[in-house]
Amino acid sequence: MSTHDREYDVVLWGATGFTGRLVADYLAGRYGATDLDWALAGRSEDRLADVRESVAADHGDGGDADDGSEQAESLADLDLLTGDAFDRDSLDAIAERTAVVCTTVGPYATYGSELVAACVEHGTNYCDLSGEVHWMRRTIDEHHDRATETGARIVHGCGFDSVPSDVGTLLLQTHAAEELGAHCDEVRGLVSIRGGAFSGGTIASMVEMYREGAADRDVRRILADPRALDPPESRGAPAERPQRGVGRDRDRDTWTAPFVMAQINEPVVRRSNALLGYPWGHTFRYGEALRTGDGVKGAATAGALAAGQGLLAGALSVGPLREALDRYVLPDPGDGPDEETIEGSSFEVRLRGTGASEEHPGGYTVEATVRGDRDPGYGSTCRMLGESAVCLARGEVDSPHDGGVLTPASGIGLPLIDRLEGTGVSFDVETVEGGD
Ligand SMILES: NC(=O)c1ccc[n+]([C@@H]2O[C@H](COP(=O)([O-])OP(=O)(O)OC[C@H]3O[C@@H](n4cnc5c(N)ncnc54)[C@H](OP(=O)(O)O)[C@@H]3O)[C@@H](O)[C@H]2O)c1
Repeated sequence: MSTHDREYDVVLWGATGFTGRLVADYLAGRYGATDLDWALAGRSEDRLADVRESVAADHGDGGDADDGSEQAESLADLDLLTGDAFDRDSLDAIAERTAVVCTTVGPYATYGSELVAACVEHGTNYCDLSGEVHWMRRTIDEHHDRATETGARIVHGCGFDSVPSDVGTLLLQTHAAEELGAHCDEVRGLVSIRGGAFSGGTIASMVEMYREGAADRDVRRILADPRALDPPESRGAPAERPQRGVGRDRDRDTWTAPFVMAQINEPVVRRSNALLGYPWGHTFRYGEALRTGDGVKGAATAGALAAGQGLLAGALSVGPLREALDRYVLPDPGDGPDEETIEGSSFEVRLRGTGASEEHPGGYTVEATVRGDRDPGYGSTCRMLGESAVCLARGEVDSPHDGGVLTPASGIGLPLIDRLEGTGVSFDVETVEGGD
């Protein structure tokens, strides 16, 4: 199904939410009303009109589309589309009008299933910020085959989870193949975050995942499976589980703590390898952790973070404690970090790949670094998601798949790095050992 004749390039679904507003603001600032044909969508026309007014006030009129099209000529003219996550007809009506639906309506396990089904049926490309592995597995099982028939690229995880890990690994492996003639057998990621905070919607998604896990043994099994997102034929193969306690990265002289997103990013990177046809080998290993530094302070921080995460996971697994935390302690949907926190935070993901080949029997090491100059979950995520949508809309993808339930690396690939250039999210790669 061709999406070339669609009325819009991108419809931003959930533009009224905390993250949705940030994506709207980002697209308005980068593309205005005329460099991208886009519309705002959600369940309340009044709230959508507020968002439109606010982006028009912040970014001017967005230029003039003098090409005879019906495209909005200024940000104040952006179309507003209404619907409801549980009203399939309204979602069909949106999906059939656009080349891409870019959605921030989460928890996705609660609000996302009908939208994915609508996009699959209409051959509409789709990108989201889901880190809900059990739900991603559900969409793979229910929709991957049909999406390959309709040509819908359904790409989950287009934010901080999992673009840096997934597209960063693709960059590293592409560099290794081009420069050293072979891939790396293993990639280990170290994540550093300065500042940052969670929004209510992210917390709601996390709480919902624990709630579903408590109620359903199959969900628990999927969440514990490091190959949960692999294609069916490779699901049983061995793979390491995310780090749980304090760790030590000897090559990089640092203590490490479990990284909460590793449970999402690690299966996503494995799915990318599978969907790309195992270019990195069937025994490729990927793992990531939080860098806490060297010395006593680094060890103590790693210990405290490991214990804290263990306690939180324990509390969220116990029904009454989970409900009390959700109700009285954690932020509500719609809330999130303030502008100062978003602008004043940053992240760095350092991926280190190692391997050996006939040509380089002594081994080689390649490092890719992904940096964001704003907080990872919102300031940088809205850029990664917005540019993923633009890549999908313009066909700027390097993917062996014309459709399917895909990952950022296998569904969009390296063109996303080019689109992100100059936005504050950067990717670098170099051979650090064994390149001669
Ligand atoms: N992966 C990452 O790096 C990352 C980063 C940030 C966020 N996220 C994820 O993004 C999602 C959104 O987070 P958030 O903090 O932005 O959430 P939020 O502020 O609570 O926004 C949720 C949005 O969903 C809409 N919505 C709720 N019920 C709906 C329905 N029945 N039909 C249509 N729309 C409905 C809300 O509309 P109203 O305004 O009308 O209520 C709002 O626009 C979460 O799943 C979160 O985990 C992921």
